Amino acid sequence: MNILEKDIYEEKIDELKKYIKEIKGTNGEMIASLYKGQEIFGYISEDVKNIIIKETMCSSKKINEIVEFNGIFTKTLKGKYHIGVCLGETCCKKGAREVLKNVKKYLGIEIGEKTKDELFSLDIIRCVGACGLAPVIVVNKEIYGGNEVKNIEKFFLKIKNKK
Ligand code: FES
Repeated sequence: MNILEKDIYEEKIDELKKYIKEIKGTNGEMIASLYKGQEIFGYISEDVKNIIIKETMCSSKKINEIVEFNGIFTKTLKGKYHIGVCLGETCCKKGAREVLKNVKKYLGIEIGEKTKDELFSLDIIRCVGACGLAPVIVVNKEIYGGNEVKNIEKFFLKIKNKK
């Protein structure tokens, strides 16, 4: 890491710590901190986990469980837009497998892969509690569902236009 990269890295650490301080004591501070950590760093690194453990007093066991079993969080650096297709029961009943097939075809990648331009990465996720919108796709932390994910070309055009 050169000096500039080190400065940027430290700025990111400060940003995460500042955020945690602002939400300290609120309900769901751990999840919100993980989301923020992933937003800032692109993934949940050991440093991110250690900051959250230290600043929120949450146990490392709990944090590891959430990062491990919640498909929204990733332990490796993903694309700018991390696509999570929900394969929970309700989403599957509403056509999530077809949505996943279309996403894979459109992006030309498999689950766990990243596009060559590093813009998109793809994973499957479990129920995110938005079953009313099924089938659901989560892009970073934004939830999309229903008709808006059924036309995949239109959907990705919308995501790309948000850049
Ligand atoms: S099953 Fe997909 S959001 Fe609940």
